[in-house]
Amino acid sequence: MNSTTSARQKPATGLGPQLRRRKSIQQMIGDSESSSSGGALRRTLGMWQLTMISVGATMGTGILVILGATVPIAGPAIWISFVIAGVTALLSAVSYAEMAGMVPVAGSSYSYSYATMGEGIAWICGWCLVLEYAVSVAAVAVGAGEYVNETLRAFNMELPASLAGGPAEGGVVNLPALIVVVLATLLLVRGARESAIVNTVVVVIKAGILVFFSIVAFSAFNAGNFEPLLPMGAAGVTAAASSVFFSYIGFDAASTAGEEAKNPKRDLPRAIMLSMLIVTLTYVLVAVSAIGAREWTWFEGTEAALVQIVGEITGQPWLVLVFALASVLAIASVVLTVLYGQTRILLSMSRDGLVPAAFGKVSKRTGTPVIGTLITGILVAITAGFIPLGALADATSIGTLFAFALVGVSVMYLRRKQPLAPRTFKVPFYPITPILGVLACLFLMSQLSWHTWVVFGGWMLVGIILYLAYGRRRSVLGQLSKQEYIDSHLGNK
Ligand code: ALA
Repeated sequence: MNSTTSARQKPATGLGPQLRRRKSIQQMIGDSESSSSGGALRRTLGMWQLTMISVGATMGTGILVILGATVPIAGPAIWISFVIAGVTALLSAVSYAEMAGMVPVAGSSYSYSYATMGEGIAWICGWCLVLEYAVSVAAVAVGAGEYVNETLRAFNMELPASLAGGPAEGGVVNLPALIVVVLATLLLVRGARESAIVNTVVVVIKAGILVFFSIVAFSAFNAGNFEPLLPMGAAGVTAAASSVFFSYIGFDAASTAGEEAKNPKRDLPRAIMLSMLIVTLTYVLVAVSAIGAREWTWFEGTEAALVQIVGEITGQPWLVLVFALASVLAIASVVLTVLYGQTRILLSMSRDGLVPAAFGKVSKRTGTPVIGTLITGILVAITAGFIPLGALADATSIGTLFAFALVGVSVMYLRRKQPLAPRTFKVPFYPITPILGVLACLFLMSQLSWHTWVVFGGWMLVGIILYLAYGRRRSVLGQLSKQEYIDSHLGNK
């Protein structure tokens, strides 16, 4: 058989080799630079905007809503839960920073897994990222709904019950959540730069209200509220840590902007680390001040706890109004940036043939994946409108923790396989840090309730069926000739 004939042969078609086929880093970067699917994404984002994308995607419902809901689980030690979740996130963030500097494409951990553990794990990772991004954004939007209601109450108005929550909450649809998603989708369609500008303004507002909250809460600080520190035991603290982990999800959003960053190799690692620092400090400040202001038992059954604390301490309805409105905006910016991340991950997956091509078409006019953004926005709007927050948030955390663990594994894989490849950021204390990162993620996963695991198991099962029925056959790597396949592997060795 001559070489031309052999070059036309397809690579092995068994499931094992299909799951293991890998895409080299060079190939990924090359794909992101060629604009085979319409226009290319535009490089408009600098370090500051990238940091704001990560902070924008992170600070939101977790601190504004879930903090209040988890105080009864952990007691006054809730701030320790935030520290545990923050350290877990930080251990993964350093791995993200190393990978984002090496593989600056739009697919984030999905792409890192494709370059290291192969298509099967990459698909699972991408499918978990849908939990982290699309499902979390729906959960976040539901949180915005709570603050819209709070704002309306300041005017002695209330949404009709049928429009204030989905069927599980005795209503028909969560209209505020649905509207927030639709508005974010329309802005994203307009452009990444426009979205980043709006996001930056809103992030400044939300950091401002959280600092404002802390100042107000510290004015009513009572050290006695921290006694006893552990009324629910250490188990309560770790269980709450796995729930508040939700509030750290999103620091990785900058890593989905690899193809829109002006200098991704330098700026992505910096943006990820800087955003983690800003977020962790703010969260611990807010958690300590909230407990200092109110006994832990006060939080039982409260909605939108932070705004209520502001209202009770200041006694100023107009401050409640400003705080509630700013909270809606704050949560809306999470929706905006996380939705942004999801569309970029789907774009990468579609470029690889694992999801339909519609998600990868970039409009020449706007430089954004318009069709993919609209489809994603519609699906997320429907989820946000009809499914309650609690059910969504924990499922999101488990999928995210799994994806984060895979990033730690990817770092270790590439350190062994490509020890000399240039890295603009290196995980400190290697290999202890990524090993601890993976273990911390697995530990927090183990703390989530069995029904969250059942939801996760069901989600994975659907993902596996989709891969077998669609991605496995449509994979672009699977379409390559044998020679191209070998070349693509060589690039990875
Ligand atoms: N971390 C994001 C939030 O708290 C998902 O809203």
